[in-house]
Amino acid sequence: MALKLRPETALTFDDVLLVPKRSTIPSRFAVNTHTQFSRHISLALPIISSNMDTVTEWTMARAMAHLGGIGVIHRFMTIERQAAEVQRVKRTEGFMVERPYNLECTATVQDARDRMDKYHIGGLVVVDAQNGVMGLVTARDVMFERDPKRPVVDVMTPRDRLVIAREDTTMEQARDILHEHRIEKLPVLGSDGRLEGLITALDIARQEQWPLATKDSRGRLRVAAAVGVRPSDMERAVACANAGADALVVDIAHGHSDNALNMVRALKERFPSIDIVGGNVATTDGVRDLVEAGADAVKVGVGAGSICITRIVTGFGVPQLSAVAECADAGQALGVPIIADGGIRNSGDITKALAVGASTVMLGSLLAGTDESPGANVVRGGRRYKIVRGMASLTANIDRQELELGREVDPDDWEHVVAEGVEAMVPIRGPVQDIIYQLVGGLRSGMSYAGARTLSELWANAEFLRITPAGKAESGAHDVMME
Ligand code: XMP
Repeated sequence: MALKLRPETALTFDDVLLVPKRSTIPSRFAVNTHTQFSRHISLALPIISSNMDTVTEWTMARAMAHLGGIGVIHRFMTIERQAAEVQRVKRTEGFMVERPYNLECTATVQDARDRMDKYHIGGLVVVDAQNGVMGLVTARDVMFERDPKRPVVDVMTPRDRLVIAREDTTMEQARDILHEHRIEKLPVLGSDGRLEGLITALDIARQEQWPLATKDSRGRLRVAAAVGVRPSDMERAVACANAGADALVVDIAHGHSDNALNMVRALKERFPSIDIVGGNVATTDGVRDLVEAGADAVKVGVGAGSICITRIVTGFGVPQLSAVAECADAGQALGVPIIADGGIRNSGDITKALAVGASTVMLGSLLAGTDESPGANVVRGGRRYKIVRGMASLTANIDRQELELGREVDPDDWEHVVAEGVEAMVPIRGPVQDIIYQLVGGLRSGMSYAGARTLSELWANAEFLRITPAGKAESGAHDVMME
């Protein structure tokens, strides 16, 4: 049988360099990195944290949204926990917290302490059975109270002494009221006198701290959540959507499959106002079919990830730069952004992935060593590392089975797992903000080399040159002693 061979050679990041272009850009700060995550969600930075259990839970998702990117909360946890993670990001800020945590008026001082501890908050609105506001209790009111059984109504600030705001209060007005009364919390009441929300001084201050933050129309941070393709994943999607997820990401290795297409279609039908991300694919046909099924963005990358061994185990995959180029043509023709997922090792790779047509990049192991990632810390040879693992690795497979079964998997059954990912370590890297600063600084510089002020100018101006191993060796530091 003849070998059916595509004529072109597929390339990846190290096979090429971008050719410098005449630039009118005075400094890298004159470059605009705004982009689309999906049809309806725009980002100030084109960076997404991966839906891996060693990369994105609520802490990472919050940090990414603060910085102007977005995080995708992984799905390798119970439905309840994933929804709670989404909710934590959504409740982080917004100048008004809607449906704030409250306390019934029959509660005690200890109940107030417990609830504040549970939700990591410093105050609760005390309500009657009809959700009418009776007062406000703060951490300071209960801190030194000796009698934990004392009714909370005895220690709270009662309704008649409470400063309150009406539903239509603007952020500016709220700031003035907080300042005038030197208070930190402002309950918001509807016209019927019922509790509608809570404005806090901290939330208003945070609005100014993160000028690029990715926010929804109500000022809340945006977050995406991953779901699988099993029937039970619709339940997961409903819980995450109810918790406020802005996008649902269908997480499946072979996204050009009936399972993936059916899930994208079902999600789009069920949640027409939430953006659905399909993937992962590596071909024009894959993009087209996912978009036809309803995808609002398509994730591209088969076997490119740092912890992936799919190409070794299955023999399938497309070198990432060629995959992104092919898919980006299709995505741009269909008006759907492409996410380049996997294989990014530095800011140069980010520039190349975007230059070839992606709208964003998704990062796994580059972010896994940061303070915000959930991976465990380990020490090897006197140095500190964090664990990163493929979601199709042996241990991730076993953990997933144990979560589903509710019991330990017999070690004799471990050999039945066919892993397509590995467990590994990455150096501890400090706050994710510092990593993103370096990566975006490199991207901005790269865009100025292309003479591109925007991402679409980068797409238009980018010209790649294929290089040899000697060219690659010349690209890094060489012929000097590195410390
Ligand atoms: P990086 O290179 O950024 O890649 O660490 C992250 C991406 O890798 C994918 N991923 C996997 N692919 N087997 C695979 O073939 C796995 O076990 C695995 N786990 C993650 C995923 O797309 C992620 O965003």
